Amino acid sequence: MTYVTPARKPRRVKAAFIGPIALALTLVMCVFAIAIYLVEASVRDRDLAERSAAAGKLFEQKLGKDANLMRAVLRAMTTNPALEKAFRDGDRESLARQTGPLFETLRAEHRITHLYFTGIDLINLYRVHSPGEFGDEIDRMTMHKARDNAAAASGLELGPLGTLTLRMVTPWRRDGEVFGYLEIGEEVEHLIDEIRDSLAVDLAVLVDKKFLRPEQWQRGLGMMQRTGDWERFATHVALAQTSEQLPVAFDRHMLGGLLAGRNAVIDDGGRSLHVALVPLEDAGGRHIGELVVIRDIAGLQATFRRSIMTVTLVSLLVAAGVLAIFYFALDRVERDYQRQHDLELQILRLNTEHHRILQLEKLSALGTMVGGIAHQLNNPLVGVVNMAQLAERETDNPQQTRELLGEIRRAGEDCGAFVRRMLEFSRVSCFDSKPTSMRPLIEDTVLMFRQAEDRHHPVDVRLPEEPVVLMVDPILIRHALFNLLQNAAQAAGDDSPIVITLEAAVEPNGTAVGWTLAVSDRGAGIPTDVLEKIFIPFFTTRSDGTGLGLPVVQHVVLLHGGHVSATSEPGDGTRFALWLPMNQSQAA
Ligand SMILES: Nc1ncnc2c1ncn2[C@@H]1O[C@H](COP(=O)(O)OP(=O)(O)OP(=O)(O)O)[C@@H](O)[C@H]1O
Ligand SMILES: [Mg+2]
Repeated sequence: MTYVTPARKPRRVKAAFIGPIALALTLVMCVFAIAIYLVEASVRDRDLAERSAAAGKLFEQKLGKDANLMRAVLRAMTTNPALEKAFRDGDRESLARQTGPLFETLRAEHRITHLYFTGIDLINLYRVHSPGEFGDEIDRMTMHKARDNAAAASGLELGPLGTLTLRMVTPWRRDGEVFGYLEIGEEVEHLIDEIRDSLAVDLAVLVDKKFLRPEQWQRGLGMMQRTGDWERFATHVALAQTSEQLPVAFDRHMLGGLLAGRNAVIDDGGRSLHVALVPLEDAGGRHIGELVVIRDIAGLQATFRRSIMTVTLVSLLVAAGVLAIFYFALDRVERDYQRQHDLELQILRLNTEHHRILQLEKLSALGTMVGGIAHQLNNPLVGVVNMAQLAERETDNPQQTRELLGEIRRAGEDCGAFVRRMLEFSRVSCFDSKPTSMRPLIEDTVLMFRQAEDRHHPVDVRLPEEPVVLMVDPILIRHALFNLLQNAAQAAGDDSPIVITLEAAVEPNGTAVGWTLAVSDRGAGIPTDVLEKIFIPFFTTRSDGTGLGLPVVQHVVLLHGGHVSATSEPGDGTRFALWLPMNQSQAA
C-alpha cells in the first residue's frame, strides 16, 4: 500500500531573495552615492583651488598693470627737458614745483605713494612724497637692478618697517649716458582691497619674519596707525589684510599645515571659510611671504550638501522602486510555485489512489482466479467422488463399473487438461523474440487450427504482398492467434468465414509504426457489459471455457510492447486486433 507522502514544501522565493536583493541594492546605491560624493567633492575642491589661483593671478595682473602705469609716468617725466634740467642742476625747489601737482594727481587717482630723484651715485636728491628726506643712499633691489642692467627694473620691495611696496626704477639718460635714476612706488594694500571687491574673497599678506625685525615692524605699525600681533604666527607676520581681523581659527598650527601644502576649511563663527596660500616674491626673486586667500564657502557647501542629499534621495527612491518591482515579480513566482506545489500534491494523491485501486484490482483478480481454479477443479472432482461411490456400490456389475471408471477417467482428463491450460498460461512469460516472417507463421497456425477444428470453418487470410518480418516470439504469437481463431470459431456459425488480416498501422495514440494482426468473425458479437470483462482471467460465458484464452492473448501482446483491442457489434460479429510494434531497424 502506498501512502501519501507530503510533497516538498513550496519554495519561499520572496523570503529567500528579497533580503539579498535589498542588500545588493543598498550596496549598489551606497557605492553610487559615495562615487557621487567623491565627484562632487573633487569638483568643489577644484573650484576652491581655481578661485585661490585666480586671486593670485589677479594680484599679479594688477601689479603688472600698475607697473605699466608707473613706466608711462616715468617715461613722460624723463622726456621733460625742464625736469631734466632741474634734476641735473640739483634744484629741489624746481623739482618740487614741477612734480608737486603731478604727484598729488597720481596719489589721488592711482595711489602712487613714492617718487624719488636719485643721482648716478645712488644718493637721493629729492623725495617728492617726503621732501625733507634726502642725501641718503638708496639701497634697494630695484635700484641695484636698474643700475646693473642699465634698464628699468620693477617689483615688490619689503621695507624695513614692514611695508610692501611696488617699485619701479628707471635710469635717466642723455645721449646714451645715464646721469641719474627716477623711482616711483605704491603700497600694495589697495591691490588686495580691489581683489576682494572683484572676487568676493578676503586677502591677507603674510611676510616671513626672517625679512623683518620686530622693533622696526612695530615702528612701522605705529607710523601707519595700525595694530598687529608679532606672536600670532611662528614664522610669519601679517602686513596687510582686507578684513578687520583674521579668522580666530587661522592660527600658527593651521598656517603650518597650509605651508606644508594642505588645504584648509575652517569654521569661523558659523561661516565655512576656505583658506589657501599664494606665494609672494619680491623684486629680487626671493620668496618673502604668502598672499592668503580666504573664501566664504557656505553657499558652495550648501549647494554641495543639497546635491548630495538629492542624489541620496533619488538613489533611495530608485532602490525602493527596483525593490518593489522585484517584490511583485517574486510574489508572482512564489504564487506560481504555490500552484505547482498544489498540483504536485494533487497528482501525488491521485497516484496514491490509483495504486490503491490497482491493489484492490489485483486482490479481486486473485480472488477471481482462485474462485475460477476451484470452480474448474471442483466440478470434475465432485463427479469423480460421486462416480467412485456408485462404482463401489456396483462392484457386482462389471459393465456398470467399467462405464463409471470411464467417466472417472474423463473427469481426471478434464482436470489434467485444465492444469495443462494453467501451465500454458504460466509459460507465456518465457519470452524469446527473433525476426519472424509473419506469412508462414500465420499460415502454419491456420493449418494447425484446421486440423484441430472438426467443424472446418472457412478461414480467409488477407496478407500484404511484400514479406513482413517482425521481431516476435513465434510460439507465443502462434498461441495467441490460435486462441483468437478458437474463440471466433466458437462464436461464428458454421459457414460464416473467419477473416485474418495483417496491415501496417501507426499506433492510434502515437507515432510508433507497427502492424495490426486482426481476426474477425461474423458471430453473435459481444454485449457491452461482457466486453468490459473478457480480458479478466477465468471470465467466461461458455460452460466448457476456462476464461484463460484472451488473458493469454493480452499477455503475449503486452510482452511484445503492443496492445490488443476488441470491437464488437452485437449481432454483427467481433474483431480482435493485435497491434505489434516494428523496431527501429525494421522500420529503416
Ligand atoms: N469471437 C468472440 N465472439 C463472441 N464472444 C467472444 C469471442 N471471443 C471471446 N468471447 C467471449 O469472451 C469470453 C472469454 O474468452 P476466453 O477465450 O478468454 O475464454 P473462453 O473462450 O470462454 O474459454 P477458453 O479458456 O476455453 O478459451 C468468452 O467466454 C466469450 O464470452
Ligand atoms: Mg477462448
